[in-house]
Amino acid sequence: MRILGIESSADDSGIALIEAEGGFGPEFRFSALAHEVATQRHAEYGGIFPNVAKNEHIKNLPLLFEKMQKRFPEKPDAIAVTTGPGLEPCLWAGISFAQRLASNWRVPVVSVNHLEGHIIMSMIENVSQSLGKLHAFEFPVLALLISGGNTQLVLAREAMHYEVIGKTRDDAVGEAFDKVARMLGLPYPGGPEVANLARRAREAGAPPLPPLPRPMLHEHNFDFSFSGLKTAVLRAIEAQERIEYPLSDTFKQQLAREFEEAAADVLVKKTIRAVEEYGASTVLTGGGVSANEFIRSRLTASLEEAGVAFLVCPREFSTDNALMIALVGYFRALRNEFTAPEDLMADGNLKLC
Ligand code: KG4
Repeated sequence: MRILGIESSADDSGIALIEAEGGFGPEFRFSALAHEVATQRHAEYGGIFPNVAKNEHIKNLPLLFEKMQKRFPEKPDAIAVTTGPGLEPCLWAGISFAQRLASNWRVPVVSVNHLEGHIIMSMIENVSQSLGKLHAFEFPVLALLISGGNTQLVLAREAMHYEVIGKTRDDAVGEAFDKVARMLGLPYPGGPEVANLARRAREAGAPPLPPLPRPMLHEHNFDFSFSGLKTAVLRAIEAQERIEYPLSDTFKQQLAREFEEAAADVLVKKTIRAVEEYGASTVLTGGGVSANEFIRSRLTASLEEAGVAFLVCPREFSTDNALMIALVGYFRALRNEFTAPEDLMADGNLKLC
C-alpha cells in the first residue's frame, strides 16, 4: 500500500510517501520513497506565530509535493494528514491541501493524531535505511512524549490503543527550554542551544549552582509542571545580574546545566515510577526534546537498571516530519479508519485514545 503523509502541525512542513506491507507485527516492512521537510525560521520572533507559520505551510507544502511527484507521479492508495494536536491555523493548511489532493485523485483520507506519529516512529527499526520494520518489543508500552507543545506519559496496553496517564499542567518541557533560551539571549528553537551550553559546563567541570526546583517530583501522580522551574531560572538570572552584568558565559553554562538536570530528573523519575506502577515492558520516547542527548542518556541508564527495553528513534526523526504520519496512516488504513475529506477537522487539543 502506498500512503502519502502530510504534516503541518507547528513550524515544520512535511510530505512523505511510503510503501508498506504486512500490518502491525513482525511481517511489517516499509520503504520511505520520499521524505521531505521544510523547517521554518522563526528565530527572529523568538517563537512560532501561528498565522505566519500557516502562510509558510501554504507556500511549502505544494513545493515539497511537486518535488516528490517528479519522482513518483502515480496516485497513492491513501492520504494521511495530521489533524491535531497543534496550532489550528497550521493544521488547516495541511488539511486543505489533503482535501484538494483527495478530490483530484479520489483516494481515501486518514486523519492522524500527531502524537501517535511520534509513538510509532520510535517503534521503527532501520528508519533511516530503505527497508524499515518494527522493533521486536512487548506491550505494555509506556511512551514519554516531550516536545514544544506536549509533555505526556501515555500507556499502550496493546497496539494503537492509548491511555494518557499524566501530562503537564502548564508549560511543555520544550517550551520551558525555549523560554530559558530566550532569557539567556539565545535564538529559537532554544532546546539545542540550552543543551549546548549545558554540555560546555559539563566538559569544563564547572562547579554546580544552588539546585533549581524539581516540580511535582514527589507528588503521587504522573503529571508534570515546568512553569515554576522556568520562573526559578528567571529569579536566578535576576540575582546574578546584581553581581555581574552582563552575565558571564560560565554562569550561563552552569545555569543551563542545572536547568537541564532539573528537567531530566523529573522526566526520568516519573517515567520510572510509571513503569513500576503499570508494569510496562517497554518505554519509548518521542518529540523534539527526545533529541536531547542528556535526557536520552539519563533515560537509557535508568531503564537499563530497571531491566526495561528502551526505544528511541534517530535524532533527525525525533522532530516533526510526515514520515511518521504516513506510517500511522498505513496502520489506520488497514483498519479502515478513513474520514470523509469534508469531515476533516483541525483540533488543536486532539487527545490520544
Ligand atoms: O516535536 P517538535 O519538533 O515540535 C513541536 O512540538 O513544536 O519539538 C520542538 C521542541 C522545541 O521546543 C525545541 O526547543 C525542542 O523540541 N528541542 C530540544 C532539543 N531539540 C529540539 N529540546 C532540548 N534539547 C534538544 N536537543
